[in-house]
Amino acid sequence: MNYYNNTMTKIFDWKNILSHSKEFQTNQYFNFSYMENIFEKDFYQELYSSYPKLDDSWIRIEEPDKSTYRKFWFNVKTHEVDRPGNDSNFSNAFNTLHEYCHSNEFMENFSKFSGISNLKTKHFTFVNLKKGGFQYPHAHNASPSTLTMFFYFVKNWEEGDPGCTYFSKGEDEDNDILVEPYNLDNAMTIFLDADNAWHGVRYIEKDIERQSICVIMERYDEEQKLWDAEIHSK
Ligand SMILES: [Fe+2]
Repeated sequence: MNYYNNTMTKIFDWKNILSHSKEFQTNQYFNFSYMENIFEKDFYQELYSSYPKLDDSWIRIEEPDKSTYRKFWFNVKTHEVDRPGNDSNFSNAFNTLHEYCHSNEFMENFSKFSGISNLKTKHFTFVNLKKGGFQYPHAHNASPSTLTMFFYFVKNWEEGDPGCTYFSKGEDEDNDILVEPYNLDNAMTIFLDADNAWHGVRYIEKDIERQSICVIMERYDEEQKLWDAEIHSK
């Protein structure tokens, strides 16, 4: 039990988030949004000031198409399905956020936001990229209900700086980018998997860190006990 765990704590600004629902659901390219003012201010400051330091405990991912760092809940080493429960390696604020991401309120609000029923939180990952970090443009379609969101905890990101997850029309970073955010201070990006849901991260040249959390939600079939991606891979 942590000290935020009471009904007085405001975590997300749901009114603001839900006001972007129509824009997300009717986007002409694919379902994506960039939004600011996500967390309630006080709670955001707690998250920002206790974001885990980039140290040896992080998993470095160096692959031909990406360079990034990841850190998982309960110190697991792979991208497995996330489980509820406190982890004392992280601050009270992040424990509160993690617990809340597994709450009905969180799941119902993102179902409302996206128009997809029975969404459940599947992954919760700390993602950091520093100088030299990137991810080539790509699209995946694990299932029609796989919803990926990034929450950013970065101040003083400058206009035009590469490093935030962008959305694009295709693979050409010079011509296809539709949205690349430059305010990463209490902001988020969110998209729904699709064959044309192109996204990536431009190469980071400055000595900066892109502190973020990635939460992936997906429809879960309680009767079959299967995630949508499992049903679609059959
Ligand atoms: Fe991706």
